[in-house]
Amino acid sequence: MTTLGTPLSPSATKVMLLGSGELGKEVLIALQRLGVETIAVDRYDNAPGQQVAHFARTITMSDPAQLKALIQAERPHLVVPEIEAIATPMLQELEAAGVVRVIPTARAARLTMDREGIRRLAAETLGLPTSPYKFCDSLEELQAAIDGGISYPCIVKPVMSSSGKGQSKIDGPADVKTAWDYAMSGGRVGPGRIIVEGFIDFDYEITQLTVRALGADGQIETHFCDPIGHVQVSGDYVESWQPHPMTATALAESRRIAKAVTDDLGVGHDGQPSGLGLFGVELFVKGDQVWFSEVSPRPHDTGMVTMITQWQNEFELHARAILGLPVSTVLKSPGASAVIYGGVEAQGIVFDGVDEAMRVPNSEIRLFGKPESFVKRRMGVALVHDADVEVARTQAKLAASKVKPRRA
Ligand SMILES: Nc1ncnc2c1ncn2[C@@H]1O[C@H](COP(=O)(O)OP(=O)(O)OP(=O)(O)O)[C@@H](O)[C@H]1O
Ligand SMILES: [Mg+2]
Repeated sequence: MTTLGTPLSPSATKVMLLGSGELGKEVLIALQRLGVETIAVDRYDNAPGQQVAHFARTITMSDPAQLKALIQAERPHLVVPEIEAIATPMLQELEAAGVVRVIPTARAARLTMDREGIRRLAAETLGLPTSPYKFCDSLEELQAAIDGGISYPCIVKPVMSSSGKGQSKIDGPADVKTAWDYAMSGGRVGPGRIIVEGFIDFDYEITQLTVRALGADGQIETHFCDPIGHVQVSGDYVESWQPHPMTATALAESRRIAKAVTDDLGVGHDGQPSGLGLFGVELFVKGDQVWFSEVSPRPHDTGMVTMITQWQNEFELHARAILGLPVSTVLKSPGASAVIYGGVEAQGIVFDGVDEAMRVPNSEIRLFGKPESFVKRRMGVALVHDADVEVARTQAKLAASKVKPRRA
């Protein structure tokens, strides 16, 4: 049986979000609706999630000492990582010492923090299909890996990066040095290791949202959302839709892969399969063939579409699952999402045309409230539902285009 407390009282059920961007903000809203006491942590003040939580804290989450001090001071029941750049070894230490429960497990946060842990787990431990790959620490090693079998075309990515940063495609020998230099400039922690992956000529890519939640008998059950199709531009998602049509074989294979990965990431430091929560499993599909790409042990950006397509969106699913509550992944309507970018570099920008955007039938607009805009920063999202998913895609892009961010 799950028991929830009263916020701001001694009985409070306390949850700390590590990372409080637009995804964390929605998780926090879902938690607030259940009377959970929330602490929103980010590396800068007034992050989107900090605007909707009981408490806001600003620290460097990659600094183990700062992270430990904050967790010990706040004593949350659950720590929910929303980003990858966190001092995850410290989370493992605190979890093993029984100080806190990390969602889904500190081990999952650690393994998915860089591309190496999760790729080796998926391909080498679990034997799941992935692109051919090699990890390299120098330009010479990169060239040797390509010549040794990865071949052209291939993709180079810093092991510590997200949203396509430092990532580029190599079509032939002339691109190798450029790709190496670009990766060195785009990694999260300065120069370092890269992964080079053989290019998969997929028909389409999907996110398989997968939820580990408690059933009535107290056992963990795995639930699958309908597949989410998406388009990435320079490694960043620009639009997504749900459901994406798939063959029965490809769908079954996607779910087999998603179950294998999430079952493993659900195993904690004590060897118990106790990890709860939602995962975004990224897969490439060609015909009936499916490749595992990567996984987020948390809500996924392409899953923002579920705010208009599911009865319980991915943020509510995550909030419910981590609290030990039952979930339903039933689709409400097909629909689509389209990203609204900042377009300008400025603080405290304004958005013209939100009214025009909302006049697009069956639409909703979300603005994240980020204090500072960059040209390519995601500042909001347009959502549209329609019985025809292709209509929803067109209309979501139309709605997004009506919102015009500008300097105040
Ligand atoms: N081996 C590959 N073959 C073909 N396309 C690829 C390959 N690897 C990555 N891509 C393309 O680049 C996109 C981003 O790659 P990946 O998900 O690994 O990077 P990321 O920086 O983690 O992006 P995000 O944080 O947005 O998920 C993929 O969604 C896919 O469209
Ligand atoms: Mg990705």
